[in-house]
Amino acid sequence: MVGQSVIFRLLMILAPLLLLESPPADCANILGLFSTISPSHLIVHMSVMRTLADRGHNVTIVSALKPKLVPHENITVIMAPFSEELNARIALHLENSSKEKSNIFYSIMKTMNTLLDSQLEFLKHPNVAAIYEKPQVKYDLLVLGYVMNDFQLGVAAKWDIPIVVSWIMGPFGFIDDQVGNIYDPSYVPSLPMSNNKDARVLDFGLRLRNFGIWICMKAITSAIDTQMNKYYKLAFGQEDSDFPTYHEMRRRISLLFYNYHSLSEGPVRPTVPQSIEIGGIQIKDQPDPLPNELAEFLGNATNGAIFFSLGTNVKATFFQPHIMEAIFNVLARQPLSVIWKWDDLEHKPGQAANIYFNSWLPQDDLLAHPNIKLFITHAGKGGVAEAQYHGVPMLALPIFGDQPANAEVMVASGFGISLDMLTLTEERLEQGINEVLSNSTYVKNVRKFSVLYRDRPLTPRQSVIYWTEYVLRHKGAYHMQSPSLHMHFVARNNLDVCAFVLFIIASSLVVFVFLLRLVYKRFTRSRDKVKKC
Ligand SMILES: *[C@@H]1O[C@H](CO)[C@@H](O)[C@H](O)[C@H]1NC(C)=O
Ligand SMILES: *[C@@H]1O[C@H](CO)[C@@H](O)[C@H](O)[C@H]1NC(C)=O
Ligand SMILES: *[C@@H]1O[C@H](CO)[C@@H](O)[C@H](O)[C@H]1NC(C)=O
Ligand SMILES: *[C@@H]1O[C@H](CO)[C@@H](O)[C@H](O)[C@H]1NC(C)=O
Ligand SMILES: *[C@@H]1O[C@H](CO)[C@@H](O)[C@H](O)[C@H]1NC(C)=O
Repeated sequence: MVGQSVIFRLLMILAPLLLLESPPADCANILGLFSTISPSHLIVHMSVMRTLADRGHNVTIVSALKPKLVPHENITVIMAPFSEELNARIALHLENSSKEKSNIFYSIMKTMNTLLDSQLEFLKHPNVAAIYEKPQVKYDLLVLGYVMNDFQLGVAAKWDIPIVVSWIMGPFGFIDDQVGNIYDPSYVPSLPMSNNKDARVLDFGLRLRNFGIWICMKAITSAIDTQMNKYYKLAFGQEDSDFPTYHEMRRRISLLFYNYHSLSEGPVRPTVPQSIEIGGIQIKDQPDPLPNELAEFLGNATNGAIFFSLGTNVKATFFQPHIMEAIFNVLARQPLSVIWKWDDLEHKPGQAANIYFNSWLPQDDLLAHPNIKLFITHAGKGGVAEAQYHGVPMLALPIFGDQPANAEVMVASGFGISLDMLTLTEERLEQGINEVLSNSTYVKNVRKFSVLYRDRPLTPRQSVIYWTEYVLRHKGAYHMQSPSLHMHFVARNNLDVCAFVLFIIASSLVVFVFLLRLVYKRFTRSRDKVKKC
């Protein structure tokens, strides 16, 4: 009896998993639109699409950047690169923002026009326009990689198909509004925000800061919304009048995939059922074997190794030469081996027996290697997530965009330390490296997180499959939408109800005062009468 019930329970637990292992009943034609200018964003989106292709769906990927992808029988890639002129504008923006300290809003406002122009150019590229203007293939689902490109949702209007939006970070103002996630500034950080690891709530200072960010976010969101509507009309404006409007298309979003895991990354916050967490989708369940040379170098690293990478957007040439020289001098002195991602192999910062340079390194597979003791990173979301998954402590050198905030959160979680790249000196870097390597707190914290991060009912890949096929089965997940998406500002904030209640209270008061005066008059009159008698 006992044995039977155990087996039964096991079956109950395994049933959904077995379901996911068997191929889907219907293979769908899925279109992925990825106009991002950032290779690290593309890696996340490609992991989503790859998962669907492995599952047997017919996946078409339209991308501005060339995706790193081994050819796959179920994936067709269509390229729609940006023009030279736009690439130059983008490169200038990236270079300028590496040279100065800036906050995220300033960066967004400064790059907004370039970003939106690039998104429109992508949509108008002959290879993309061909897909939606003279459709040859009937698609069943659009997966849109989010980069402030909501107006591209119009593409899905052509086939009247549901939309899944893929976002590379956690819940965030601009995207939360698309599904109606609650965004309460008293306890939900508007941006990744460092807080004392053990504090459950934001203190007064943080709440004040968060409130300020929240207001800015609301203002920028409405500015962006106006811009999106304008670009939507630029892109699809010539359509007939029954073509859905921009705001109608926003309500066609069925799911939002967030590359985030709330239970381990925190903070706990309310999200609607349309928010699906696929944090770590870009991380392989099993690392691939390293290239021979690298495997041998790491295998030789008996003292352990440091992995140093500034990611895909940042070039070493953006920095003053003395900074790279300082980094080189410190790393060359280390008793550990060093693996350094360096783009220009013709002009290395120096030669040292313990340093291995390469322009392309399999970051995820490397971080999975037990000999890697420290990850020196620009604190891009992807790299930080991979290090956290594999339990590797970090030294962050954040540069721009979301990196300073990611680094702050990483430090507050106790996974490592962060240094300022622009004022880096040999002493500070050396001290920093020694601190993270010698103090075991960091590695303990990050390993503990790693265990929590992996403990979930469905793996990120299983979540992608289950929820995407859920949308396909039901031709959209509109029944999951928060009613708030269909309310206008007054109703959403209950302003009409408050006004009505105030009116009732005020008119009751008036009536009450009126009655009081009436009673008083009667009373005085009758008293006068009594006196007269
Ligand atoms: C491609 O899709 C088919 C079903 O459409 C599936 O049988 C096959 O395994 C998929 N290929 C790969 C490499 O996953
Ligand atoms: C799969 O997608 C490709 C590219 O969009 C298309 O040419 C092909 O016809 C599709 N296959 C099926 C079986 O629909
Ligand atoms: C970049 O900086 C240069 C010099 O400071 C300036 O002239 C240029 O307008 C900036 N470009 C962008 C795109 O911000
Ligand atoms: C690894 O160590 C062996 C033996 O010392 C040496 O011959 C080989 O060149 C080393 N490999 C690398 C990649 O450093
Ligand atoms: C290790 O780091 C933690 C966190 O920064 C700190 O509290 C602790 O005192 C350090 N331990 C040593 C031995 O330096």
